[in-house]
Amino acid sequence: MKFQTPTGMHDILEEDLVYFKKIQKACESIAGFYGFKEIQTPILEQTEIFEKGTGATSDIVQKEMYSLRTKGGDHLTLRPEGTPGVVRAYIQHGMQNAPKPVNMWYMGPFFRHERPQAGRYRQFNQFGFESLGVVSPIIDALIIQIFYVTLQSLGFKDLMVELNSIGCSQCRPYFKKSFNSYLRSHQSSLCADCKQRAKKNPLRIFDCKQEKCQSIKNGAPQVLDSLCKPCHEHFKAVLEFLDELDLPYSLNPYLVRGLDYYTRTVFEIMEQTKNGESQGSLVGGGRYDNLAKTLGGKDTPACGGAAGVERIVNLMKKRQKKAPTEGVCQVFLAQVGELGRKKSLKLLEDCRALKLNVGHALHKDSLSSQLRTADTHGCKYVMILGQKEALENKVIIREMETGKQKTVALDKAAKEIKKRIA
Ligand code: HAM
Repeated sequence: MKFQTPTGMHDILEEDLVYFKKIQKACESIAGFYGFKEIQTPILEQTEIFEKGTGATSDIVQKEMYSLRTKGGDHLTLRPEGTPGVVRAYIQHGMQNAPKPVNMWYMGPFFRHERPQAGRYRQFNQFGFESLGVVSPIIDALIIQIFYVTLQSLGFKDLMVELNSIGCSQCRPYFKKSFNSYLRSHQSSLCADCKQRAKKNPLRIFDCKQEKCQSIKNGAPQVLDSLCKPCHEHFKAVLEFLDELDLPYSLNPYLVRGLDYYTRTVFEIMEQTKNGESQGSLVGGGRYDNLAKTLGGKDTPACGGAAGVERIVNLMKKRQKKAPTEGVCQVFLAQVGELGRKKSLKLLEDCRALKLNVGHALHKDSLSSQLRTADTHGCKYVMILGQKEALENKVIIREMETGKQKTVALDKAAKEIKKRIA
């Protein structure tokens, strides 16, 4: 075929969209409960907010951004992640002066020029929850809990939260110092990428998946051992809140996350798979107490996370053999003859007014073909508007399973169906 979707990008067809919508609904309901307001930021942002926010030494900024220069000379980038845009909006719209925390959530497409593989795409969707303005560790625990219950509400059972603290601008330099001296003695065994990382941002070495770097990572000093007292106490309190919530977590001293803005708590949530078919992390997040200031705002403690929608959908599809049936019509409207077809339009509108989900095939002539369609949709009732019924302003209501029929007045048909379904 001549034209195809760009590499790493996909059409989302109806059979998958039902999962996306289910996820959107779950987010809306959970966001409502926990007091998060929806925000939609532009797909394109000034390149600088990612360079400064996500971080100049992150893989995202170094290798993965789709950046362009507009005819007017602006440098823009297709958003590779949502947090810098949300923080930009927070500063731009005066939310710095609003009562704290300012809680926001979003869902939409993101773009990273990565090597496509299972669960890793160049265009993908995320939903994210961000809480700005509060330093208390209860916010970190609440953010983790929100993602955890969202996944649970989507049917996930075997979830694991991995957690670490990477300290703050006070204590991280001490860790970097001891890590650097450890790296100097192992320099020659690092992969080519990590040799570069060792020079520019050594913490990125912990993200490396190359075999030869694993043993170096395993023997490295741990950031948890270098935390200053306030960071140590913050992390301890986060763990106590998670214990209180009975949330299963494990400490991963090598979890540093690939974005530069994180401070203190970082976390990822994954599904524990028995057959090793991992999609990678479903959710990633953490605290980012310096990001607002970096982007020109006031000092604003903050914490948040984002989940990969496609990864979640892939797992939901594997587990659930049938797509969620929500929204499938229980009623079908079949019509026969010119007058039947004409009058079916008004009946369809009566049904819409009563919020009935009605299937139809108004273009079809044959009743048996329409009944077959009703059957494949799994409709419980069919309304039949034949030539004779149309002349008499009547409709036949047939119960598909039993074949029982009743003729009712055309203007009462929608109400009758509503009553039966209720
Ligand atoms: P992230 O870890 O880069 O964090 O992405 C979050 C989630 O998005 C990942 O756990 C994964 O499920 C999904 N994801 C990332 N890249 C891809 C890809 N190429 N294809 C498919 N799914 C992908 C962030 O984006 C941060 N903004 C999270 C955050 C919010 N931290 C604080 N607030």
